[in-house]
Amino acid sequence: MEKIVIKGGVPLAGEVQVSGAKNSALPLLFATLLAKGESEISNVPVLRDINTAVKLLRELGAEVEAEGGCYRIDSDKIKSIEASYDLVKTMRASVLVLGPLLARFGQARVSLPGGCAIGARPINLHLKGLEALGAKIVLEHGYVEATTDRLRGAKICFDFPTVGGTENLLMAAALAEGETVLENAAREPEIVQLAEALNSMGAKIAGAGTAVIHIQGVESLNPLKCRVIPDRIEAGTFMIAAAITAGNVLIHHAVSEDQEALISKLIEAGATIHPEGDGLRVIGPKQVTPVDIRTSVFPGFPTDMQAQFMALMTRAEGTSQISETVFENRFMHVCELQRMGADIRIDGHSAIIRGVRQMTGAPVMATDLRASASLILAGLAAENTTEISRIYHLDRGYEKIEQKLSALGAKIWREQE
Ligand code: UD1
Repeated sequence: MEKIVIKGGVPLAGEVQVSGAKNSALPLLFATLLAKGESEISNVPVLRDINTAVKLLRELGAEVEAEGGCYRIDSDKIKSIEASYDLVKTMRASVLVLGPLLARFGQARVSLPGGCAIGARPINLHLKGLEALGAKIVLEHGYVEATTDRLRGAKICFDFPTVGGTENLLMAAALAEGETVLENAAREPEIVQLAEALNSMGAKIAGAGTAVIHIQGVESLNPLKCRVIPDRIEAGTFMIAAAITAGNVLIHHAVSEDQEALISKLIEAGATIHPEGDGLRVIGPKQVTPVDIRTSVFPGFPTDMQAQFMALMTRAEGTSQISETVFENRFMHVCELQRMGADIRIDGHSAIIRGVRQMTGAPVMATDLRASASLILAGLAAENTTEISRIYHLDRGYEKIEQKLSALGAKIWREQE
């Protein structure tokens, strides 16, 4: 197994390129199942989750060719409608094949994902929505078995603006008969990109990016050709890397409209941020001001940036509070940050962080994707050496992170354990 080693204390300086968004690339790859013929998606990041998605597409019978970040997917000869437990447990987003398979082939068999490190994460809202479109759903042997003659449009009001649920329903409703209205839909930039991509395939979707989305079903869709948007979570992670090391970094392809909640909190914390060229320049403060945050759905503060922001707050001159409202168990990084000298107390869904003058390097363990990023950030700012094990989590979602940080001056490398 590999580990990441960091010798902290270097203020980061220079320029960094943000890769394509994992959370956009995944639904787009699965959306290609909706059409016959060859689709092409560019700016796909090289990540473990993308490899898992490709493996799943191939198991279904799609032909996939990848060259650099460009993927060609031919889903003419689909021979299976099943996403196995082995794949779904490796990557929960595999459940996003449910909507497309059901809409195009009238059947899908997808393993239930089970719990994960950050919470229970059920898919009941996906299933309820598909049932409202007329699918018959049976749960058997840990699998969701969904069938339909043809999905029919319906009005669906989500109990919670679920990202994956909105994506599954968008893809299913695109080929349903008649109109579907999704209320209390998720509004994340990745939803907008998926809707635009589906429209470019011939779908009729209006309102993506707002809480109410109208989908007029069509008989068939054409292959997809699109470019994945920049990864706002990766961009945000580099913004905090600049802030936590009192650095000065130009982050190419960081989109300020997708980052407003994070940007305003970083400015409150003392960072200077301004647009420059195709990105954002972030200059870290000499002293970090404590800032409270509360995660919520877009456009609120993203839960996927919570762990990284906590790393920054461990260095603040005073006490801050971070409340997690999206996932029930997303504080696994706290114990690891404490091993590096952080003063953090958990109280229900909140963490109270008393800033410390200096964190010290320690051997720590990554517990999930964004927790891994928070440990890297803490390590960049800590005294001495930090060693992070279980970095396979990191490789699910950050493309070449140690190379990108090294190019900014960080002393970071990968070693065999
Ligand atoms: C997506 C992102 C993930 C991000 C999350 C929230 C991808 C591949 N992943 O995950 O990085 O952290 O959005 O921004 O895009 N819920 C239910 N029932 C459901 C569905 C969701 O109770 O049927 C709950 C979940 O348990 C969770 C909350 O709703 O507490 C948010 O989940 P959701 O928005 O669906 O997140 P994902 O799509 O899984």
